[in-house]
Amino acid sequence: MQQPVVVFGGTGFLGRAVVAELVRRGWLVRVAARHPQVAALPGKPAGAVTRCAVDIRDEAAVATAVAGAAAVVNAVSLYVETRDVDFDTIHMHGAERIARLAAAAGVDRLVHISGIGVDTQSASRYVRARACGENAVRAAFPGATVLRPSVIFGPGDHFLSALDGVTRLPIVPLFGDGGTRLQPVHVEDVALAVAASLARPTAPGDVFELGGAEMPTYREILRLILRHRGRRRLLLPVPFAIWRGIARASALLPKPPITVDQVNLMAGDNVVRDDARSFADLGITPRGLSPELPDCMG
Ligand SMILES: NC(=O)c1ccc[n+]([C@@H]2O[C@H](COP(=O)([O-])OP(=O)(O)OC[C@H]3O[C@@H](n4cnc5c(N)ncnc54)[C@H](OP(=O)(O)O)[C@@H]3O)[C@@H](O)[C@H]2O)c1
Repeated sequence: MQQPVVVFGGTGFLGRAVVAELVRRGWLVRVAARHPQVAALPGKPAGAVTRCAVDIRDEAAVATAVAGAAAVVNAVSLYVETRDVDFDTIHMHGAERIARLAAAAGVDRLVHISGIGVDTQSASRYVRARACGENAVRAAFPGATVLRPSVIFGPGDHFLSALDGVTRLPIVPLFGDGGTRLQPVHVEDVALAVAASLARPTAPGDVFELGGAEMPTYREILRLILRHRGRRRLLLPVPFAIWRGIARASALLPKPPITVDQVNLMAGDNVVRDDARSFADLGITPRGLSPELPDCMG
């Protein structure tokens, strides 16, 4: 009987694209999330996708989820900490648990989704947790492939839809002067990279940084969206110190609109390093943001 690929976070934005790509390639997929029924996933061929309710904080549930799998993909995210869960719990301990229990179960391949710019010394708690998570995953599962995407876009994403909202404001605030450079990557290209990683021989320490074909600044991305929507707005530079103050004050709200971590993330470029391995090493030509934007935003 064919062994499945378990996709942790398979109901999420990236996870759904990964599941679709794996099913297209003939894999059986087991979707593992806390609420696995919520997302529409490929219904054909019948039986290609099964669902498994699991919280990655639960040792026994993760062990059950990875049992009998050929491969595991970790696409679980946490962008904002809450009273119940922090970045270390998901991005370090949860990631380590998946890697360790997958190794113990004899799983052959693990693809761990991280992010560009991971750094154990970062000012961002999020980035530090991701860096420690990568290290923990490699220690527990030395043959793991780590994929570090830049910001991911696609239909129904968080990124373009948030900026669409921002460009409705009468005046559009920039992070600093808006010069931070991003390398937005299409969600389906990241899914192709996951599938390609599963198909290649294991090489311990494999890391690929995934950026799209264009490297626009934040200001340029806002201009693209304004042009696409036919809106005219003033773009107002706002110093990072002011953003941090706003983020600290809004931490008192039940659902903060922005966190200090998110501000810190916007303070540095989020692009593929010159010496990093990337899409080309996986035989993939990534798309750029501007030609895809109309399809993604509708
Ligand atoms: N989106 C981006 O721009 C971007 C950029 C770079 C890197 N990444 C990385 O890509 C990965 C996927 O991100 P995404 O944007 O697709 O996230 P997402 O849409 O927020 O999806 C998160 C997934 O994780 C599951 N999940 C959350 N907490 C869980 C828990 N405790 N136990 C089990 N499952 C849990 C969610 O399902 P339940 O809530 O039902 O559990 C959902 O399936 C993450 O590692 C993220 O950091 C994303």
